[in-house]
Amino acid sequence: MKRIFAAGLAAAALCTSAASLAQDAPIIIKFSHVVSPDTPKGKGADRFKQLAEQYTDGKVKVEVYPNSQLYKDKEELEALQLGAVQMLAPSLAKFGPLGVREFEVFDLPYVFQNKEDLRKITDGEVGQGLLDKLQPKGITGLAYWDNGFKIMSANSPLQTPDDFLGLKMRIQSSKVLESQMKALDAVPQVMAFSEVYQALQTGVVDGTENPPSNMYTQKMHEVQKHATLSNHGYLGYAVIVNKKFWDELPADVRANLEKAMDEATTYANDIAQQENDDSLAAMRASGKTTFHELSDAERQEWIAALEPVHKEMASRIGQSTIDAVNSALGR
Ligand code: LMR
Repeated sequence: MKRIFAAGLAAAALCTSAASLAQDAPIIIKFSHVVSPDTPKGKGADRFKQLAEQYTDGKVKVEVYPNSQLYKDKEELEALQLGAVQMLAPSLAKFGPLGVREFEVFDLPYVFQNKEDLRKITDGEVGQGLLDKLQPKGITGLAYWDNGFKIMSANSPLQTPDDFLGLKMRIQSSKVLESQMKALDAVPQVMAFSEVYQALQTGVVDGTENPPSNMYTQKMHEVQKHATLSNHGYLGYAVIVNKKFWDELPADVRANLEKAMDEATTYANDIAQQENDDSLAAMRASGKTTFHELSDAERQEWIAALEPVHKEMASRIGQSTIDAVNSALGR
């Protein structure tokens, strides 16, 4: 099955390069992602398309495929490496299976107090250093895009760490997230994003975590009775391209695409908070999910319960990456 899939991807890659040889044919960038067009990432991808086509005077055509239309989480990374798609923006929690475990530092619970902390990493040397680690995998990292801080949801209230006992919680493919759920005595289950709604609806899993924009646009609030505004962790993206494709672009085209990416990045990061605020407001208005806040004392309990994750995951992430993050955050 896997072999057939890989052969299919290779054939698709061949067709793409043959097509781009045709004279005057535009260079095609297939940009695949797993969320709704109506999210920070979806809107960022659409803005990149618009700017890229404008700045290259139509020499480049960007085809955006949202909602896992082309590939699911794991497949899309394989497809990128094989050249069947050229651009993706996977969540930072999805780089572990590629062998770049250092990205899981972003998943550590309560590691960032706010977006200013986060920017110190993504806009600084640590962020660039992490993107550089993708090069040997045939991938070039172009930018970091925000989504937001995550909330926890289930069909029962999640007010204290004890409330997670035995709950099956869907996670992304990150060992740090697995350790986080285990620290809460929940049962983590890795699952592709495209399958989460149905798994919640049918009770295959009891709950999950995501920023409000993802929860709302996937209609998860229709199948989750409770959610806690815990902001216990961050979900954001690295925009990545197939390195060979990128390196072989004519220099002027690449420069224009970089300009388009810079502007799309500013746009995506500017709208992310508002998108999440609007999604939360819409879910509250629907009355389907009850949203819970944490008191300071409850928040301290969550922090204490999740503290062991940092130590347990240090060797996986790499102490030098953790030290570099702490030092950039002035800790
Ligand atoms: C998830 O799988 O929960 C997220 O990574 C989806 C996304 O891309 O925001």
